[in-house]
Amino acid sequence: MSSAGIVPLLGRVAAAVSEAIVRVRPEMADADPVVRRSDRADFQSNAALPLAKKVGMPPAQLGGELAASLDLADGVIADVQVSGPGFLNISLADRAIWASVAARLADERLGVPTTENGHRVVIDYSAPNVAKEMHVGHLRTTIIGDSLARVFGFLGADVVRANHLGDWGTQFGMLIQYIDEHPESPWHTEELDADTSSVSALDSLYKAARAQFDADPAFADRARARVVALQGGDADTVARWREIVAESEKAFGAIYDRLGVLLTPDDYVGESFYNDQLAETVTELIDKGVAVDSDGAIVVLSEQVTGPDDQPVVLMVRKRDGGYGYDSTDLATIRYRIASMHADRLLYVTDSRQALHFQLIFEAARRVGWLTEAIQVDHVAYGTILGPDGKPFKTRAGGTVRLMGLLDEAAARVRAVVAEKNPDLSAAELDTIAEQAGIGAVKYADLSTSRVKDYSFDLDRMTMLNGNTGVYLQYAHARVCSILRKAHAATQATVDTAGPLEPAERELALALDGYGTVLAEVAEVLEPHRLAGYLYDLARAYTTFYDTCPVIAADEPMRSNRIALCQLTARTLELGLGQLGMAAPQRM
Ligand code: ARG
Repeated sequence: MSSAGIVPLLGRVAAAVSEAIVRVRPEMADADPVVRRSDRADFQSNAALPLAKKVGMPPAQLGGELAASLDLADGVIADVQVSGPGFLNISLADRAIWASVAARLADERLGVPTTENGHRVVIDYSAPNVAKEMHVGHLRTTIIGDSLARVFGFLGADVVRANHLGDWGTQFGMLIQYIDEHPESPWHTEELDADTSSVSALDSLYKAARAQFDADPAFADRARARVVALQGGDADTVARWREIVAESEKAFGAIYDRLGVLLTPDDYVGESFYNDQLAETVTELIDKGVAVDSDGAIVVLSEQVTGPDDQPVVLMVRKRDGGYGYDSTDLATIRYRIASMHADRLLYVTDSRQALHFQLIFEAARRVGWLTEAIQVDHVAYGTILGPDGKPFKTRAGGTVRLMGLLDEAAARVRAVVAEKNPDLSAAELDTIAEQAGIGAVKYADLSTSRVKDYSFDLDRMTMLNGNTGVYLQYAHARVCSILRKAHAATQATVDTAGPLEPAERELALALDGYGTVLAEVAEVLEPHRLAGYLYDLARAYTTFYDTCPVIAADEPMRSNRIALCQLTARTLELGLGQLGMAAPQRM
C-alpha cells in the first residue's frame, strides 16, 4: 500500500519560501529555499543570501521583499522577521503545530510517505565465510545492513536481502580432504558442546589442514586432487561441501537469531550460486571490449585508478590457470542483480578496505553497459571495531573475538544495571529485558557512530544509563509508556488545536514532525546514525517537556494535548528503535 504521507512543517515552510521567491524573482524559480530549524524562531531561511549575490542586490533588501511576499494565508506561518544580513526567521502558528501532532497520531505510519515504493533495492550484507568464525567486522555489516533493510522496507521499497556467503574456493578442497582423513575430529553441531559452534570447529580443522598442506607434499597432492574433484562436481565431494555449508549456515543462523536481524535461510545466496554464470560473464566482458588478455589471464584495466607504478589497477576476471576468484564472482553478481533481478538500487555493506574492489567492479559494470544512469549503486563502507583500548579488537591470546561471547557479556552487564534499579522484577522478566537491552546496546553503539569511523567496543560505555546509549533510549521509551499507563490513556487522545502551546511542547512537537525527514535522509545517504541522533534528540526534547509540563495533573485541554504528545513520542521512539533493529520494551 502506498501512502502520500503528511507533508512535514519544514516542507511546508520551504514551499512557502519557494513561492515567495517566484513572486519576487520569477527567473530564480529553481533556487533552494534553504530552510532549517532555528533557535531564534521555529525555522530560518537563508535563501536571500545566495540569491542576492546572483541578482546583485543587498541581501537585506531581498530578504525584506521575500518576507513581504510570504503567503500567510493558509495559517501555517504566523510571523516572519528579517534579521542580520537577510535571514528570514519564521514562526509557525500554534494551531498548525498541534494539527501536525493530531494528523501524525491518527496515521498508522505517523505520516511518513512511502517514497521508495516501486524501487527494488538489493542489499548485500553480512556475508560471512563458510567454515570460518564470524568476526566483529561481520557484526558491523550485519547490524548496518539490517537497519538499512528496515528503513528501506518501511519507506515502501521492495528490499532483497542478499547474504553473499563466502562458500566457494580452493580452500574447501583441502578442508574436505582433511576432514575425510580425520573422521575422529568432530565438527557437526550435535557432536559439539554448547559453547563450540560448528564454524569454530571447522575453522580449527581448516588451520590444521593448511599446516599439513604446507608440511606434507603427499597430503598437498591429495588436497589438490580434491579441489579438482569439487570443481568437477564429484558427487561425494560435493555432498561433503554441502554439509559443511549447511553446518556453517546453522551457526550463522544462531547469531542472526540472537541479534534479531531480518536475515533468514532464504537470504543465503552464496558465491557458488554464480558458478555457472562466470563463463558467460567473462565472454560478455571480452566481447564488449572491456576485459582483455594479459599473459593468459583475463583482466579489466581501470580507466580511473592507477597504482603506485602509474599503471592502471587491474580487476582479475579470470586467472591464468582458468580459475575464478572474488573479483569474478562480484562481476557475475552485479550483472545478475541488474539483468535478472531488475534492481533499481544496489548496496554493498562491507568494510572500507574493500572500497577499491567495489570501485573497480562498478567501473567495469558501467563500461560493459550493465550499470546505467537509472541504477544507483553504493559501497556502504564502514570503519573498524577497535578494542576498549583503541587497538584492533582481539582476544588476549590475539585470536578473533567470539561474537556470541560479546553478546553474552553485554546482556550480563545490562542485567546487573536493570536489577539494581528494579529490585521487584522476576528473574524471567530480567532475562528478557537484559537480552533486549544488551543486544540493543551493542547495536546502538554501532549505529550511532558515523559509519565510516572506527569505534571502540567498550561495554562499560555502551551500557550507561545516561548519555547517548541504547539503554538510555529504551529507558526514555519505557518512561513514556509508564506515564501513559498512569494516565489510563488507552485510546488515542483528542488534540485541541486551539489549546495553548508551551515552549517545551513546541520543541517536542517540531521534533516529532521531523521523523519522516530523517528517514528520507537515511535512505539517501545510507547513514543510520542520523536516525540514532534524531532519536536521541527526541528523547531529550521529551525529557525537557516532561520536566516542565505536568501531564496527568494538567487541566483540559492541556491534559489531552500532552497525552497526545506522549503517545506520539512513544510510537515514534518504538518505530525508530525498531528501524535500528532494537526492541522497545514497555517496562524496564
Ligand atoms: N565474504 C566477504 C567477507 O567476509 C564479504 C562479501 C561481501 N559481498 C560481496 N558481494 N563481495 O569479507
